[in-house]
Amino acid sequence: MEKILIFDFGSQTTALIGRRIRELGVYSEIIPGDSDLAAVDLNDVKGLILSGSPESVYANGASVDQSVYTRGLPLLGICYGLQRMTADLGGVVAPLPKREYGPVSVTLIGETLLHREMSPAVAAFFARLPQSLFQPSLFQPTEVNPDRAFTVWMSHGDTLTTLAPGFVQCGTSETGYPAIVYHREKPWFGFQFHPEATHCEYGAELLGAFVFGVCGAKGGWSMENYLGELREQVRLKAGNRTVLLLISGGVDSSVTAALLLKSLPADAVHLMYVDTGLMRKNETEEVEAALEKLGAKHLHIIRAEDAFLAALAGKEQPEEKRKIIGDLFITIQEREVARLNLPLDYLLAQGTLYTDLIESGKGVGEKARVIKSHHNVASPLVAALRREGRIIEPLEKLYKDEARALGRLVSLDETIIGRHPFPGPGLAVRILGAVTKEKCAILREADALYIGELRKHGLYDQIWQAFAVLLPVRSVGVAGDERRYGYVLALRAVTSADGMTADVFPFPPKDLLEIAALITNTVRDIGRVTYDISSKPPATIEWE
Ligand code: XMP
Repeated sequence: MEKILIFDFGSQTTALIGRRIRELGVYSEIIPGDSDLAAVDLNDVKGLILSGSPESVYANGASVDQSVYTRGLPLLGICYGLQRMTADLGGVVAPLPKREYGPVSVTLIGETLLHREMSPAVAAFFARLPQSLFQPSLFQPTEVNPDRAFTVWMSHGDTLTTLAPGFVQCGTSETGYPAIVYHREKPWFGFQFHPEATHCEYGAELLGAFVFGVCGAKGGWSMENYLGELREQVRLKAGNRTVLLLISGGVDSSVTAALLLKSLPADAVHLMYVDTGLMRKNETEEVEAALEKLGAKHLHIIRAEDAFLAALAGKEQPEEKRKIIGDLFITIQEREVARLNLPLDYLLAQGTLYTDLIESGKGVGEKARVIKSHHNVASPLVAALRREGRIIEPLEKLYKDEARALGRLVSLDETIIGRHPFPGPGLAVRILGAVTKEKCAILREADALYIGELRKHGLYDQIWQAFAVLLPVRSVGVAGDERRYGYVLALRAVTSADGMTADVFPFPPKDLLEIAALITNTVRDIGRVTYDISSKPPATIEWE
């Protein structure tokens, strides 16, 4: 399968480069910026991209395997990637007087090219760009035609002050610095800006010009044919072995379950789900029904509510609650896995996504930013199986929305595919303070009403994550002639791309009032409802 290989030097937008290329219909893979090319299978690689980075090219230890310049493969440097090429190939990179950030206008000097001899790669690159972008004339370069300028997205503190030998500048930023360069003879290109950013005009065309024009990719990659490959890979890796998958009820593990069931005999697939008693209303039943519909034969549901509530009794501190839940989860999981008496050589499947690898800093080089650490409990069982090469992570190259698309192809229920994220510690971090069975029941009812109404009002899919939070305060109210003290419930709804930052969902007031009234009228113990209007940062999405 043809692919584009992306060297990741730690930019926050590297994952987006990969995604944009797949959107063009070409498979892409991201590898750590310090990868040794000798260890990489280059057979189907059509071209290389060097990503951006928060570092300077002169930072200690910054480098790339120099054989990227000798393999004869097309090469595109983006931002730092371009500076890396420039510094490596004999040009000069220096700090800008002022960091350039955000939208910047670029002019493309096309006609010069027509007056020189163009390499086939350059000709193919330019042939794929809209001709209306080129400035009319280079040789009477008096006025730049502003209609032909386009806006790119920049984020850099260094610039090229001298191009490396053989390079030509054909795009210039409004501040006069090189924005697009190419090599006269070799299929090497560079953009100082980020074509992958949503706000970059012609970003897809510019990437397409490289991927199709220069690299000669044919396109046609799609989730359908990727599914075929994944099934084959799963079959090959599993052989005759039994595969165990620990499912949480979330999108990633459910899609993995569906994929395993579509790829292997049902007898070879064991699914285990621990119900901590901290789940949402009907969650366990829904997961059970969805997996049975997909043909699951060995579905092990472990009901452990009592154990979790006993361990949490009287515990009020969020981090303590998280630790108790994480530790107990591992203990129960390991005990129950042992009780299954699986064949000794069984494999363990996980719903790891590409973004989980970036977030845990595992897959993509030391410079990748470590964003989340508290979210995934490290289980000794998983660690031991990983050391033995007995972990199978079929979604590890996919982004969340791609995993969802795959889930649809393997007929997973839409309610599970579109579900908002849910934290591992579940309702325990949404009941502020001590957790009790009664509080779980109250919150579960209120949350189910809230979410059900969001669906009915057609709002659910506009929101990244919505949930109710039970506060440890009671407030006065009236019911009939009586004064009553009911709990205060906070409703949360945020929009977000990845959970790292989040905005408050601008709730239509009419819907919000209706939902709040329904909750206070239906859930006896809730006396008052508030709406959380805090963005992240400074608040977090969860309340604990
Ligand atoms: P915060 O609250 O940190 O949440 O803004 C960001 C995203 O992570 C989820 N989250 C967790 N997920 N274990 C998890 O598996 C946790 O302890 C945890 N805490 C927060 C949260 O729901 C949101 O999607």
